[in-house]
Amino acid sequence: MTNAAIVGCGDVAIVHAEALAALGEELGINFVAVVDKDLSIAQDFADHVGVEAYESLPDLLAKHPVDVVHITTPHDQHIDLAIEALSQGVHVIVEKPLANELAQAQRLIDYLEAQRQSQAQVRAPKIGVCYQNRYNVSSQELRRLLDSGELGTINGAYASVVWTRTPGYYTQKPWRGQQAHSGGGLLMNQAIHTLDLLQWFLGPAESVKGTVSTDKYADVIDVEDTAHAYIGHESGVHTSFYGTLTNSRHRHVEIELDCENALVELRDGLVVNWADGRVEHFQERTQETEGRSYWGVSHELFIRDFYEKLHDEEPFWIGPEEAMSSLKIAKEIYSSSLSRK
Ligand SMILES: NC(=O)c1ccc[n+]([C@@H]2O[C@H](COP(=O)([O-])OP(=O)(O)OC[C@H]3O[C@@H](n4cnc5c(N)ncnc54)[C@H](O)[C@@H]3O)[C@@H](O)[C@H]2O)c1
Repeated sequence: MTNAAIVGCGDVAIVHAEALAALGEELGINFVAVVDKDLSIAQDFADHVGVEAYESLPDLLAKHPVDVVHITTPHDQHIDLAIEALSQGVHVIVEKPLANELAQAQRLIDYLEAQRQSQAQVRAPKIGVCYQNRYNVSSQELRRLLDSGELGTINGAYASVVWTRTPGYYTQKPWRGQQAHSGGGLLMNQAIHTLDLLQWFLGPAESVKGTVSTDKYADVIDVEDTAHAYIGHESGVHTSFYGTLTNSRHRHVEIELDCENALVELRDGLVVNWADGRVEHFQERTQETEGRSYWGVSHELFIRDFYEKLHDEEPFWIGPEEAMSSLKIAKEIYSSSLSRK
């Protein structure tokens, strides 16, 4: 059996708990404990899902054998907790973004590199960063089409994340609106998934120009709620990006690729409008969850893939180096906004 625990019993933790419950029997996962720095929160969550509660990761690791931890804490806690677990030989799933700041993320990458050097003969614990939207039907189909070459030359891309937020979203969990803890707003917390998909489809960014602003929530947050950017990918393709949390409702996240042989629209599913008149539709899966629907339906697929690959030789495919790309794009947009370059 593989013993699993969740660290951070906030909003997204339930999605991880549901996946562990769904996959447990088939994959031999034993969901044993949860941790929260607020023990009463941990206890409530533990009672809800039927596991033990702990107040800190060191406390859990000292008292209970654990093979995998899921880190679902605020961004600024990800790296210390990940290194704590990895250093004790425990595999890690960490929520996006990798960290609140690039230097923090780099610290983990340096740690892993040092670990690889020193453990040349020993298999190091694995780490996966939760970019579950790569497992969406639309993402998988688009990746397949890009790999096949059928779409021809890509003329350009457009992406948008137009969602809504209430002041309560920030006042209930203040870290979300505080630069020091979150490292940013819309880009770091919401649009990072879309930045990740863009660089996965079109290649890493080599130039970024953009601006950010706080258009609606300046009285409750010190991070941005709105951003736009013009992203040049190494492939030569450019993406025009727009994102905001100021809308009155959630629109579907959009990625549109204008290609030689088709106009491809990713928006809650994928529509491929071929130049010869054919139109192909790929419908997204649906899933019942206590988590929010706009987080997508693929956490379980991501978590399944991680556990199925736990004993493979090679590192997990969405690891810290991979997760650095979207973090760098977000941070470049902030720099560009400040410098106006
Ligand atoms: N992949 C997705 O689609 C998705 C969706 C939502 C959230 N997330 C990510 O999940 C993370 C958590 O977000 P959330 O909205 O659930 O946060 P939240 O504020 O609702 O919950 C975080 C919990 O972590 C606890 N915590 C903080 N520091 C801790 C520590 N050092 N040890 C143990 N517990 C600690 C807090 O007490 C809190 O209960 C964020 O990084 C967020 O970006 C990802």
